[in-house]
Amino acid sequence: MNEDTPRTDGGTERADGEPSEDVALDPWGSASVGDYADLFAEFGIEAFDDVADDVIDPHYLMRRGVIFGHREYDAVAEAMANDEPFAALSGFMPTGDPHIGHKLVFDELIWHQERGGDVFGLIADLEAHSARGMSWDEIDEHARSYLLSLLALGFDPEAGELYRQSDNREVQDLGFELGSKANFSEFEAIYGFDGETNVSHMQSVVTQTADILYPQLVDEPKPTVIPVGPDQDPHVRLTRDLATRVRYFKVTEAFASFELDNEERTLVRAAYDALAADVDDAETDVRCEDAAAWLDDYEPPEIDEESVDLAAAKSSALDKLRAGGKEPLRPRVRFLDRNATDEAFEALIEAIDGEKRVFEGHVDAFDLTREEAESVAREVEIDHDGFGFRQPSSIYHRFMTGLTGGKMSSSIPASHISLLDDPEDGYDKVRSATTGGRDTAEEQRELGGEPDECPVYELYAYLLAGDDDGLAKEVYSECANGERLCGGCKEQAAELMREFLEEHQEKREEAEEVLDELDIDLDSDRRGTGGEH
Ligand code: TRP
Ligand code: SF4
Repeated sequence: MNEDTPRTDGGTERADGEPSEDVALDPWGSASVGDYADLFAEFGIEAFDDVADDVIDPHYLMRRGVIFGHREYDAVAEAMANDEPFAALSGFMPTGDPHIGHKLVFDELIWHQERGGDVFGLIADLEAHSARGMSWDEIDEHARSYLLSLLALGFDPEAGELYRQSDNREVQDLGFELGSKANFSEFEAIYGFDGETNVSHMQSVVTQTADILYPQLVDEPKPTVIPVGPDQDPHVRLTRDLATRVRYFKVTEAFASFELDNEERTLVRAAYDALAADVDDAETDVRCEDAAAWLDDYEPPEIDEESVDLAAAKSSALDKLRAGGKEPLRPRVRFLDRNATDEAFEALIEAIDGEKRVFEGHVDAFDLTREEAESVAREVEIDHDGFGFRQPSSIYHRFMTGLTGGKMSSSIPASHISLLDDPEDGYDKVRSATTGGRDTAEEQRELGGEPDECPVYELYAYLLAGDDDGLAKEVYSECANGERLCGGCKEQAAELMREFLEEHQEKREEAEEVLDELDIDLDSDRRGTGGEH
């Protein structure tokens, strides 16, 4: 680790490259991840580093590797950079007091809002009631507290939207619609639901997928980022699927009447490109059987990605080309009708410029690029009462280590700091935290401490240093080279924590008035069960 990169890498780099046993993403389990690197290989989450360069003036949580992963965040970064519309949304289950872990997500939302995004914060009260058995009274109280902290940290409720799931009819309706494209077997596979799972819990999952797509419903389809912990990734994956399943049309690229998967398409394209160069009229003179002959002699390159196996695709592509016989091979984009109304399908045919051929259930267009086709499909869909959703993006932050070592858990008060903790208690908790220090001062001076293993360093990096990279770097390097001893280091952190809590709590008080002005019912007067105690 070099001195001027003060970031805990906390496991994104693994020496042995083998997935560990404890990788599991469970939204209702305990929030701990053994090894972040495994999430890339196991679930297809991408390393945040890969998009970091596209982000202008990144947030300190991005700079310090706290935000470690993403799905398609490039779409959002690009919109942000080009002043195009984008949105951000996250949700909070009101099961207890907001704590410093929630602050990460509050800050991420606020940062996207400051950069011009439409930002949404929601209270996941249906989920808290159905999955955690919280009573409505408890939910009301906690909901209020989450919203106060979000406002106190700088969320602008005029520019953005705050809502509770149970009060948002549009979200409920959208959930109902999305639920018609999901089934129980899928819930079993994704969440481990079984015959004992209560039905409202399942409904709360559908509601969350609706939350995630809601920013695109109230306005227009646009890149949307969901900042969350990686435990929420199953919801993001499901929602990305559902966003596609409800679309009217699917746009693919084809070369003849048959369909191709991505690998087969790569091979057929190679054949087409090679043959088209040598004929007078590429539109008529390249035939499927010629491409089959070419491909038969072709050695596909080995591609260094797990999911890409061109050698295996070769034989299926050959079968399709041979069956095509004398049919001309010609590149085209294909619009497949998935859920369109008859009127929308007719309107799509009208809207396609240039040469086109209409079939039962699909249209082939010969003069459009893939991007042009996508945007025609989306416009027609929106004009005809469809959703036209884009797949949502996400960013994932690391979980903070508990102050007592192990995981940070709301059931162990000393392990975490609530945003409502008395500032003196906050001070005391930091003073008594576990560290990555050595047994004696002498040893520490000689060997240096281990900031990467230290919950106190994390406090600096995740929260206390704020935007001041200088401070984070100073703590990191002074610790690592033995100039810094834990006593003084914790004293400094404890004082910063006390100040932070004092100031935050003052701002929460000021936010009371703002909250009361907002149209959010925090005294829900709902009948129900008392919750599980
Ligand atoms: N399931 C989330 C949690 O446990 C809360 C939530 C509900 C949420 N809807 C959401 C998070 C939409 C992100 C986006 O905290
Ligand atoms: Fe942690 Fe500070 Fe001690 Fe280093 S000096 S191990 S950062 S408490």
